[in-house]
Amino acid sequence: MLVVHIAFECAPIYKTGGLGDVVGSLPIALSKLGVEVAVVIPGYGFIKRKKYLPGTQIPVFYAESQWFTKPNTRHDPKIQAVKYAHFAIASLDELKRRDIRPDILHCHDWHAGLIPWLLKAQPDAFFARTKTILTIHNIAYQGNFPLAFLKRAETQNIYELLAKQHKRISFLKEGIRAADFISTVSPHHATEIRRGKVGFGLSQVVRGKRGKFVGIINGIDYRVWNPRTDRLIRRRFGRTTLTAGKSENKTFLQKQLGLTVSPEIPLFGFVARLSSQKGIDVLLPLLQNVPKRRIQIVILGAGEAKYTQLLKRLQTPEFNKWVSLNFKFDEKLAHQIYAASDFFLIPSHYEPCGLTQMISMAYGAIPVATDVGGLHDTIISGKTGFLFRKITSPELLNTVRQALHVYIETGKLAKFRRLLLRQNFSWDKSAREYVRLYRKVAHL
Ligand code: ADP
Ligand code: GLC
Repeated sequence: MLVVHIAFECAPIYKTGGLGDVVGSLPIALSKLGVEVAVVIPGYGFIKRKKYLPGTQIPVFYAESQWFTKPNTRHDPKIQAVKYAHFAIASLDELKRRDIRPDILHCHDWHAGLIPWLLKAQPDAFFARTKTILTIHNIAYQGNFPLAFLKRAETQNIYELLAKQHKRISFLKEGIRAADFISTVSPHHATEIRRGKVGFGLSQVVRGKRGKFVGIINGIDYRVWNPRTDRLIRRRFGRTTLTAGKSENKTFLQKQLGLTVSPEIPLFGFVARLSSQKGIDVLLPLLQNVPKRRIQIVILGAGEAKYTQLLKRLQTPEFNKWVSLNFKFDEKLAHQIYAASDFFLIPSHYEPCGLTQMISMAYGAIPVATDVGGLHDTIISGKTGFLFRKITSPELLNTVRQALHVYIETGKLAKFRRLLLRQNFSWDKSAREYVRLYRKVAHL
């Protein structure tokens, strides 16, 4: 069976968030199960192209378009629309050029949403046997644009196919409707979407798929996220060196970021895209109180300027001893934060899966998170982390207080951490679920 993954990012070649991690690791787990896999991403002008996923024989192909030359920093909708519409066309062209006829085209998020739709709207004999699966990693991002944005030479075809019926286009909605099967990245989030709890207007469209929608939890790649072998952290550690390892990594990070240096102070990490999803509004009151509470928080995030401005306004010389604000995308610092943190904050309003809770557990940092989506499916509250239901600042504060008991009570912390390191979030089980899904869809 040949499965081709299509997405706008694939770590470590290009990554802005968890989708990159998934597209860079799920194919490896699939190939271990005997599936033939390849990946297609945009041939961006600003990335270092690799022929294979590092350390594997899995080919990475690059869809070509003049729209990929500039970095994704400015999200001008006019450019986004034509860029990813052309991505759909160029990805299919690239596969044809290489004479690759997949059994399954596994498309990810809105950027690849027009692929299932294109294959239905304009059937191509070359892909006659190819079935499509669309995985929704983030239903809030839908690629909704005026159709007129596609009135360009490269995307004229798509424009004409839709112009008779529509004035606007939704990449994700068209993809959901047209795909042979759809999925999202945790069972609990699948329920949230179905029930309309989190749907951003698309719950009904998803419900319309009737039996062709499933939630499969993500895994993490322990070749990348493993404190025993991690070359980016100060001191590597495992189960037997856990306490000393955490402590040395913490002292190192405190020094490096100009925080008060003390192994006694509980350190909280926060690594996320700065978007409304991630609950920075919920976090703010806690941050304002941090010096009084004698805890430290390290924030690493890139994204919306309104959040960087909000956070920067809190800064005073005293604040800076307790809170470190880092507004950039920095893979190394992310690893160092996971390694150094005692706790890890995830106050998300919704979280389709979330990888940072799994990563933090792998590094012995206790997640304090909202009880939503994949966080609900991966954290056992009171045992492997702390979950809170009502997404409010007082609830977060309460839960932080509860979590701090573990830190204060002698013996409890070490026991808790040892349990975290025993958790297994590898792809093995979920990759098998995908293989079963591919077989089913191939025979639809
Ligand atoms: P999402 O996909 O919604 O951004 P996930 O929890 O699934 O959230 O995955 C986030 C991934 O991106 C993790 O690997 C996390 O470490 C990484 N990440 C997020 N922000 C940054 C940043 N500013 N610098 C480095 N890594 C980051
Ligand atoms: C999305 C979601 C996140 C998920 C990631 C990978 O961006 O926000 O919860 O873990 O995709 O599937």
